[in-house]
Amino acid sequence: MAKTIQENTVFVIDDDEIIRLSCEQILKKSGYEVETFASGINGIERLKQVSPPLLVVDIKMPELDGFEVIKIVRKIDPDVVIVVITGYATIETAVDAMKMGAYDFLPKPFTPSELRLIIERGFERWHLAREAQLLRKQKEEVERKFVTLVSHQLKGPLAAVKQYLDVLLYTCKDQFHGETLEWISRSQARISEMLNLIHDWLMMAKLDRGSLCDRNASADIGMIIENIVEEYQQLPSSKNLSLSFEIAPGLKPVCGDAVSLSMLFGNLVSNAVKYNIAGGTVMVRAAGDDKWVHVEVSDTGLGIPESFRPHLFEEFSRVRSQETQNIPGTGLGLVICKKIVDELGGSIELDSKEGEYTTFIVKLPVAEPKKEVGSAEETAGSHLTEAISGENNE
Ligand SMILES: Nc1ncnc2c1ncn2[C@@H]1O[C@H](COP(=O)(O)OP(=O)(O)O)[C@@H](O)[C@H]1O
Ligand SMILES: [Mg+2]
Repeated sequence: MAKTIQENTVFVIDDDEIIRLSCEQILKKSGYEVETFASGINGIERLKQVSPPLLVVDIKMPELDGFEVIKIVRKIDPDVVIVVITGYATIETAVDAMKMGAYDFLPKPFTPSELRLIIERGFERWHLAREAQLLRKQKEEVERKFVTLVSHQLKGPLAAVKQYLDVLLYTCKDQFHGETLEWISRSQARISEMLNLIHDWLMMAKLDRGSLCDRNASADIGMIIENIVEEYQQLPSSKNLSLSFEIAPGLKPVCGDAVSLSMLFGNLVSNAVKYNIAGGTVMVRAAGDDKWVHVEVSDTGLGIPESFRPHLFEEFSRVRSQETQNIPGTGLGLVICKKIVDELGGSIELDSKEGEYTTFIVKLPVAEPKKEVGSAEETAGSHLTEAISGENNE
């Protein structure tokens, strides 16, 4: 059950009765409710029932001292603002207490206005932290609702429009010529771009909420690569690309689920296809040892300019050049790749020469032996369609 918050209350824990009484008098005069405790144990017991914004605690006490009180209080009530009272000789210990989570300290002896000031500041801090917490919750709620809105209210109708256009083209093929046909094809391409954007956007939101990758699963990376490369091999290619893969024998399963891993390598292969030149090659190699699996996705395409590399994993960033201007994309694929790799405890690096080649090197940890091997059914998803339209657009 949630604890009651007593919004105007200060708890004072001090074995010295005079301090307890004076704190009570001074603070009550300023309009605060005050509860005093002669020992840490009593104060902690009460803190388990109610939550005050502020706790004043003496450092030097018999039995449970101030440090131990802070340690326990931080666990049972992380939001309470703690002020420690300390003697002159113990300034360093007050600093230590602040390192443990106390907000401020009040050296003894203190004047009523010094106490009031520090308590006022403590309350301000508590209110600010509370507001920030509320805003964070509201932001999360808005984001969650937005993702649902995007997926249901935008994706659905767009997919339907795309289907209508497909049907229109298929059934009334003979009636469309020249410009009309061109307009319909362009509409289809733009809708595909929007659907890809929504897809990537939703994936990013899922990754940010930590609900996409499953680190406890394990997957056969060889199967995943084989599926992706074979799917691209079957696509009609206006560029005449040659795609191949090499999987080292005895490769260990990697940590992660087949869906995220397919998305990761689907994105990289999609890029290797999209940003390639006519007659170019795409090669995916996987090898490893007992701890790591290395996957290299190489192409003989446009290469990535040095100046763009610092922005490679930034949202919506794309190389702007004559060669790339007609290739569709969202600039989110590599951001998603990086998030997946980070989530799975791996790394992603780049080796590229402009106008010659690009190689992405992904390193993933080998899974614990006990885990079950996941299916590699999932494929590169929307990136496959993106790569096709990328080819057709050239
Ligand atoms: N293999 C590659 N060869 C050349 N350029 C690439 C390659 N992969 C990525 N890029 C560049 O990095 C940009 C970002 O890639 P990505 O995040 O996948 O977005 P998208 O492909 O949707 O534009 C691309 O727009 C492209 O300019
Ligand atoms: Mg991409």
